[in-house]
Amino acid sequence: MGDVWSCRLVQLPRISDGRGSLSFVQPGPLIPFDIRRVYYLYDVPEDQVRGAHGHRTLESLIVAVAGAVAVEVDDGRQRRSFYLDRPDIGLYLSPMIWRNLTGFSRGTVCIVLASAPYDEADYFRNYNAFLTAVSCA
Ligand code: TYD
Repeated sequence: MGDVWSCRLVQLPRISDGRGSLSFVQPGPLIPFDIRRVYYLYDVPEDQVRGAHGHRTLESLIVAVAGAVAVEVDDGRQRRSFYLDRPDIGLYLSPMIWRNLTGFSRGTVCIVLASAPYDEADYFRNYNAFLTAVSCA
């Protein structure tokens, strides 16, 4: 289980030289899960909200590899806001966290590294159901 204080920004390696920059993600102390899936959000209109769900067990790391996005995390008791606008910064999300992604700037590409294959049964799509589950935990 997680709370908003278990969600944290992760500084990813950044290797820059005259040819440009390279960052990478691999399991380790800062990425405490095996990466089982990668998906990415792109072509998101600036007025749209993505996420708006929670996960029972999934852990993930969100990286705005281009552009910028605001991420609000909510554990049913507290909320925290993050702003992702660098390709070498990830946001780790623990299980049982409701997340809203808003304010996508034009051209934003958000990559999400996830701890498990896609499983709709792991989702809370309804905020009240999420709150009920949190209060019963
Ligand atoms: P959705 O969960 O609404 O995206 P987000 O919450 O990140 O804004 O996903 C949109 C659709 O894509 C939904 O029908 C589920 C499907 N989907 C997959 O098939 N596989 C995946 O890995 C993900 C993340 C979503």
